[in-house]
Amino acid sequence: MSPVTVSPVDAASAKAEYEALVAQGITLDLTRGKPSAEQLDLSSEMLTLPGENFRAADGTDARNYGNLRGLPELREIFAGPLGVPAEQLVAAGNSSLALMHDSVANALLSPVPGATRRWVEEPRVAFLAPVPGYDRHFTVCERLGVELVPVPMTPHGPDMDTVERLVAEDASIKGIWCVPLYSNPTGIAYSDETVRRLAGMPTAAPDFRIMWDHAYAVHHLTDTPARVADILPLAAEAGHADRPLVFGSTSKITLAGGGVAFLGASTANLDWWLRRLEARTIGPDKLNQLRHARFLRSVDGVAEHMRRHRELIAPKFAAVQRVLAENFADTPGVSWSEPAGGYFITLTVPDGLASEVVRLAKAAGIALTPAGATHPYGKDPDDAIIRLAPTFPPLAQVERAIAAVAVCLRLALATSGR
Ligand SMILES: Cc1ncc(COP(=O)(O)O)c(C=O)c1O
Repeated sequence: MSPVTVSPVDAASAKAEYEALVAQGITLDLTRGKPSAEQLDLSSEMLTLPGENFRAADGTDARNYGNLRGLPELREIFAGPLGVPAEQLVAAGNSSLALMHDSVANALLSPVPGATRRWVEEPRVAFLAPVPGYDRHFTVCERLGVELVPVPMTPHGPDMDTVERLVAEDASIKGIWCVPLYSNPTGIAYSDETVRRLAGMPTAAPDFRIMWDHAYAVHHLTDTPARVADILPLAAEAGHADRPLVFGSTSKITLAGGGVAFLGASTANLDWWLRRLEARTIGPDKLNQLRHARFLRSVDGVAEHMRRHRELIAPKFAAVQRVLAENFADTPGVSWSEPAGGYFITLTVPDGLASEVVRLAKAAGIALTPAGATHPYGKDPDDAIIRLAPTFPPLAQVERAIAAVAVCLRLALATSGR
């Protein structure tokens, strides 16, 4: 469809344009950071596996109990992309978010390596939350009673001067959330310097943890994939081997909700983790792990599979970029991220307008992620960030939805006099 083009409009014509949009009675949704049905179809063949041959490479009967660490052949495939040696990588259940939640819950209830006591016995436990960030990370902390301290994001990762100062002076800061590659929602990649500083910085808390959520390790949208430095070896070299906990999953590679999640960490952390895990389960779903290993085959197999994902979703990202550029290239205070991978685009609007744009969009039938969702406790102090998720709807709907968002933003700008 033809994009809505902007010439400087007065409030009356922006309002008329918006009213015409509302009259269309459309229902569109840009909230869902999940794969489309076509993307899930790419993994259909996996559902026929492992067939009659349910023996893993080491002879394990994948149908039976056991093997807390998960199948070695699958850990081998993901060791490289996640930057964790296979022997330090656990293949677990279907959700990396569950592993993150359980890591914090376990640290509250049993001392992590380096801790003098359980976190629940501390007068205060806080995590740094680079903002904008991933709302579900924040929810983990909010539900478990861990305070969130926002720190600004930069194009190279969290503002490290602020991070270093806070962790050096405050022993109650026990962790930081990081999505190092194609960050949710800004799409940035952490620079080598950021990773080195995170790995090596002095912390007042001896049991400080980096929650290294490598959710988008292989989710490239261009021919020149970004690569983030591997945090585990850097932390070990700096004398902080137990600092990083690396997470990842195949949720957006194969099936969201039916994939396999991974935890990578130092030997001491893994021993701590497995001791907790053996009280919780007798073993993961190894049949699912085996079908993943057979289907994806190798690192190259994963890359080839992700190329097919890219073919499906890159045009949707391009459509959002195109409509935003056609409408707001010269609008002061309006900017957006141009991610080279991942699942999200961040739209930044003048301060105070994000919730108004979301409200206008909702009234016109377009669901946007609530303004503030990218910040702890749902509060963006500037009310300026809107997270756009273009992967799920069909391309034509993405185009219609972003054109409609442009109408809403134009009205919000016009009525605020900006
Ligand atoms: C940064 C990030 N981490 C984790 C998840 C969820 O991962 P999983 O499905 O493995 O729980 C998502 C899903 O959107 C995400 O964006």
